Amino acid sequence: MSTTTVIKSDVANPALASEGKKKIEWAARNMPVLAQIKDRFAKEKPFTGFRIAACMHVTTETANLMLALKAGGADIALCASNPLSTQDDTAAALVYEYGISVFAKNAVDRDGYYKHLNSALDIKPQLVFDDGCDLVNVLHTSRTELIEGVMAGCEETTTGVIRLSQMAKDGALKFPMIAVNDTDTKHMFDNRYGTGQSTFDAIFRATNTLIAGKIVVVAGFGYCGKGVAERAKGLGAEVVVTEIDPTKALDALMQGFRVMPMTKAAAIGDLFITVTGNRDV
Ligand SMILES: NC(=O)c1ccc[n+]([C@@H]2O[C@H](COP(=O)([O-])OP(=O)(O)OC[C@H]3O[C@@H](n4cnc5c(N)ncnc54)[C@H](O)[C@@H]3O)[C@@H](O)[C@H]2O)c1
Repeated sequence: MSTTTVIKSDVANPALASEGKKKIEWAARNMPVLAQIKDRFAKEKPFTGFRIAACMHVTTETANLMLALKAGGADIALCASNPLSTQDDTAAALVYEYGISVFAKNAVDRDGYYKHLNSALDIKPQLVFDDGCDLVNVLHTSRTELIEGVMAGCEETTTGVIRLSQMAKDGALKFPMIAVNDTDTKHMFDNRYGTGQSTFDAIFRATNTLIAGKIVVVAGFGYCGKGVAERAKGLGAEVVVTEIDPTKALDALMQGFRVMPMTKAAAIGDLFITVTGNRDV
């Protein structure tokens, strides 16, 4: 352990810390812009005195963001926005190699998930980083005593921005939130190319299946759906798209994909990928 500070945490296995550190350093090699920001933060210390609660995918990329914020002087508590993407080695490294509070374990159940969100909020944040709006939702429901201290926050993903926009419309949102997903550099690239690739990474790891020759049904032709459909095509699949927005459906058709309702696609598909942001598609 390279830190002597006692920090609060709940991670799966501290013994994974050194392996996690290597992976975080590997990811850093491909994050040159963040490296420049981190250098600037280290000089200017813009977050000195600020407590940040972050609810994000606990992956090596997020770890590097946390290190940049820490370099800028922030006191951070990180929890997972999706327990299934939590990398236990990354979580352990953040705690035991870098001295950052992390509350995240891979595949933790619903109760554990909300316990971790609440533990992160115990830092009494002035700033919140969210990915899906669950942290902000907990603040507005069961942890309302903390709202007064929150200055602002940012939200990473499409679904979170939709939830926040509705809260803002209803006059329920108690502090300003920056919609990170609305920036071109986020949705045009992360959603399309990032999710496009990581979706197949997950499918390969889970099934070890060959995509070539399969009929892959992609539900939703938004930014993520486009990326998934393009990657599936590149891997040799026959791609079928289902989409409720007629313009996007037409776009999919003109990009060479077959388009049909799910009732028909269900009968012919080998593999189904839903990227609509909606449940039960
Ligand atoms: N895990 C990640 O790293 C990650 C990254 C980016 C986005 N996301 C999530 O992925 C989801 C999709 O994001 P996006 O940016 O592509 O959103 P988007 O709004 O651009 O696209 C969603 C599309 O689904 C369509 N749709 C909605 N309901 C449908 C249905 N029942 N059948 C067929 N089509 C339907 C919509 O018309 C829209 O075109 C969101 O939940 C977002 O939060 C996750």
